[in-house]
Amino acid sequence: MTPRILVTRRWPASVERVLADRFDTTFNQDDTPLAPSQLSDAFRQFDAVLPTVSDKLPASVFPDKDVRTRLLANFGVGFSHIDIDAARARGMTVTNTPGVLTDCTADIALALLLAAARRAGEGERQLRAGAWRGWCPTHMIGSKVSGKTIGIIGMGRIGKATAKRAHFGFDMKVVFYNRSKVDDETVRAMEARQLASVEEVLAEADFVSLHCPGGAENRHLINAARLRAMKPGAFLINTARGDVVDQEALIAALESGQIAGAGLDVYDGEPAVPAALLRLENVVLLPHLGSATEETRVAMGMRAVDNLTAFFEGRAVPDKVA
Ligand code: 8YV
Repeated sequence: MTPRILVTRRWPASVERVLADRFDTTFNQDDTPLAPSQLSDAFRQFDAVLPTVSDKLPASVFPDKDVRTRLLANFGVGFSHIDIDAARARGMTVTNTPGVLTDCTADIALALLLAAARRAGEGERQLRAGAWRGWCPTHMIGSKVSGKTIGIIGMGRIGKATAKRAHFGFDMKVVFYNRSKVDDETVRAMEARQLASVEEVLAEADFVSLHCPGGAENRHLINAARLRAMKPGAFLINTARGDVVDQEALIAALESGQIAGAGLDVYDGEPAVPAALLRLENVVLLPHLGSATEETRVAMGMRAVDNLTAFFEGRAVPDKVA
């Protein structure tokens, strides 16, 4: 029997066509996020559910009995929106889409870093408001990026790709924190130094860029004390997950000028963004665009297709996370 699958949000059309060809596929036609009760029902009705970061899947959403779903094929590399233990307890396999969004997410980290340091958002707002009074030597002075030190928290694929861009594109020195030892060709080529603690990275970095997973293990990794430990004049860049940063503490640090600025692509409780952040000029705010390119979204979808196909053909799934 052809597996019944549910795609919780609209995917690129080319990938939807492949899904519709290979599976008995139900699409969420109007693309509004499903309610918890709809997700629970889906686990009773479909062989596979294909969620995204916009679907919250805590333990309470997983039914205790009559579960039909055997595969959760997540569209995205981060999966902290899924209670992995609850999925595992129901015998579900969980997959993600690593690798294919590395470059685009690293590109967005650099876009945020440059925009925050060079006040691009603020400058554009001023110009569009008709408030630009013309060039002068003291107009909208930012911080130089080239030659500075970037501190990477989480030296996985995306951390390395961000560091590479910073080092080879902008002559930046690279320091990083990672729980396990990272010593490979990529790291050696950019003479990146692994430091023993987050604090040591904060003490050296002019730009701190977060690339660790979200979820309980890293919740508020950047808290008030660690924001105080950053260099005066430093910037925080977050393309990882909103909950890695204590958002209230960040707002306070930006308001007081304790750090120079921030660039954010993700938020705790997104898509809600605190009004206090919207009021600040020294923060660049993007609406979770890390992987949002045609090429990458199609590649993410096809990676999920590969996982589904392998699973239902009885082969090992390429990207098993649980
Ligand atoms: C995705 C992301 O768009 O892959 C991730 O972890 O944060 C994004 O780039 C999102 O996860 C889609 O589910």
